[in-house]
Amino acid sequence: MVQITDTEFRKISDYVKRHYGIELKNEKRALVTSRLHSILTEHGFTSFSQYFDYVISDKSGQAAIAMMNKITTNHTYFMREAEHFDYLKNHVLPWVKSVSAREKDVRIWSAGCSTGQEPYTLAMIMNDFFGPEKPYWDTRILATDISLKALDAAKKGVYSDKDIEPIPPTWRLSHFDRIDKTSYSVKESIRSDVIFRRFNLMDDHFPFKRKFHAIFCRNVMIYFNNETKYELVRKFYDITEKGGYLFIGHAESLNRDLTDYKFVKPAIYRKE
Ligand SMILES: C[S@@+](CC[C@H](N)C(=O)[O-])C[C@H]1O[C@@H](n2cnc3c(N)ncnc32)[C@H](O)[C@@H]1O
Repeated sequence: MVQITDTEFRKISDYVKRHYGIELKNEKRALVTSRLHSILTEHGFTSFSQYFDYVISDKSGQAAIAMMNKITTNHTYFMREAEHFDYLKNHVLPWVKSVSAREKDVRIWSAGCSTGQEPYTLAMIMNDFFGPEKPYWDTRILATDISLKALDAAKKGVYSDKDIEPIPPTWRLSHFDRIDKTSYSVKESIRSDVIFRRFNLMDDHFPFKRKFHAIFCRNVMIYFNNETKYELVRKFYDITEKGGYLFIGHAESLNRDLTDYKFVKPAIYRKE
């Protein structure tokens, strides 16, 4: 196995932090090395320096995409932090329904959507909430991630029986088709409600025409340092509708002195 030197690890981690915000702490060194090792072998590189030179000189961007597919942590699951979905249904959507009664447009962004379980859960909640009125509303959810591999899996919408275990049985019946003994696919009626795009949250420019009623950025900023996190939260704030919400992971929190969002309850913030 090719070993990584201190300098090589620093160069790769500086690059990842500068371009993607993700901090690769020294404890992550063995993990990063083993995750990247298969690419080194595949290309016949004999050192991480050779590999890094190849990543930064590849103008197509494909080498960086492949690296980020390996480096990102995409752990997620259906119904994760389910209180958020209750809050969405009981507080956020009734508010959106009142403020958007004329436009009938609900704008929700799953930022860091990984393999799709979060935005599909949001789509199922919306489906329940709007019921027979749903065809009259634009309920499409924007779901973005930096990992193309995660996004490909998300777009396919195929999950194992273990993956769909947390989903209530009625939803399993109405929103999933069984493909074979152990896998299920999300029905088109839910899949078509989610628009998947690759987007780097570190981009200076957020290219969205309209502001969001709710942004879900859960378990993403834990990989960022404080400066990167609050810079991103500021950008989220700018593109949140007045009265709109930011949801973060329950293991995360925002310092009220460093953000204009107001604390609603743990991991839920509002732009007043
Ligand atoms: C642990 S997953 C969280 C998934 C989901 N939000 C949840 O809470 O279950 C974190 C996701 O953030 C994505 N991510 C990390 N840095 C990113 C960046 N700079 N831009 C966009 N996505 C990023 C990763 O690729 C990964 O899929």
